[in-house]
Amino acid sequence: MTESLNHVACYPIHREHIFDPPEALTRWAEQAPIHPLTFPDGHEGWLVTGYAAVREILADRRFSARPELVHSPFFDRIERDPQRQEGFFIRMDPPEHTRYRRLLAGEFTVRRMMRLEPRIKEIVTEHLDRMELAGPPVDLVQAFALPIPSLVICELLGVPYADREKFQRDSATMLDLESTPEQVQAAVDDLLAYLGDLVTRKREHPEDDLLSVIAPKLTLEEAAGVGLLLLVAGHETTANMLGLGTLALLSNPDQLAVLRGDAELIGNAVEELLRYLTIVQIGLARAALEDVEIAGTRIRAGQTVLLMLPTANRDPERFPGGDALDLTRPAHGHLAFGHGIHQCLGQQLARLEMRIAYPALFERFPGLRLAVPVAEIPLRTSMVVYGVHRLPVTW
Ligand code: HEM
Repeated sequence: MTESLNHVACYPIHREHIFDPPEALTRWAEQAPIHPLTFPDGHEGWLVTGYAAVREILADRRFSARPELVHSPFFDRIERDPQRQEGFFIRMDPPEHTRYRRLLAGEFTVRRMMRLEPRIKEIVTEHLDRMELAGPPVDLVQAFALPIPSLVICELLGVPYADREKFQRDSATMLDLESTPEQVQAAVDDLLAYLGDLVTRKREHPEDDLLSVIAPKLTLEEAAGVGLLLLVAGHETTANMLGLGTLALLSNPDQLAVLRGDAELIGNAVEELLRYLTIVQIGLARAALEDVEIAGTRIRAGQTVLLMLPTANRDPERFPGGDALDLTRPAHGHLAFGHGIHQCLGQQLARLEMRIAYPALFERFPGLRLAVPVAEIPLRTSMVVYGVHRLPVTW
């Protein structure tokens, strides 16, 4: 972590152990589920660390996700023009939010995702073939973890994968906590312009993809905003689960052995990896629309709450012994995909990709291991989505 980030963060973000939330944050969580917090702009808000309290707030309509209402712990204040946020429904409340969810829900059902299964398998195999041909060592992030979800979301949306350098760079800027608000806005504008052109082309020549489905039903700006959200959320997250999840399995050989011995376990194993790693590491921000009492604490109208998924998913009351990775634990009910109306739209796709990719990787390379000492692996401490920047492996 760099000095600059240390300076702006108003709650502990430095991790002592790769897979665990910051120790100081864990100590806060042990003391109470909710804590008063002074934001960099002077706002008096709250940090919520307990499972039950986080879940309760995410399900409560008296909390808003609108950017003009919430305070940010990283920028003095996120106050972007709502006109330029069209289609970005992760930051909307009902009824605007509902309109987008309804439009997209049918495109992301389990059944719809299962239709993608053969193509995802093919993509995974192609990347494993390439890795094998290149020979060890390889950076697993560049060779496997990043390109697979990236290619899948591109095909689903109808975004040319050849343009990946652009959108991978812009989305990295958007998700880097060290980017300035101006840099984030420039990356957003750049991607919106790109997606706007693409949506215009899809309107003229519709293809068999998601952007072509939504293009005629939304304004150009709205469709580009939806495309932006799906493109960014759709590849960075799953990519980091694949990278960090592989590292977690290599670091817990007993658990890897359990998984190898029981192919049926993969569904639960993926849930447990999602819980244990909880890669969305910054607090989900919501603003109270009226006074609300949570866990015996009165949150006043206008106050921002930051909901810490990593500590919530380690809460011993909900997941006893949760600091250990246990692929056989009943891990359902974890909050790694959020909860309530904004719960991850792409969760079935992410699950499918992981259920295919992890077993295929370990089957192809039974001797997979790290090519460098663990201490040399660069961690994504200053990113919205945690994970590893690189993962040198050999076999
Ligand atoms: C929302 C996590 C994969 C699209 C969310 C939220 C979380 C999350 C925590 C809730 C945010 C909030 O309440 O403020 C993850 C994780 C993933 C993943 C851990 C991978 C392992 C995906 C994929 C897609 C996607 C593959 C797209 C295809 C979205 C969208 C939302 C969302 C569109 C906003 C939903 C709404 O506001 O209604 N995700 N996500 N995510 N995710 Fe994911």
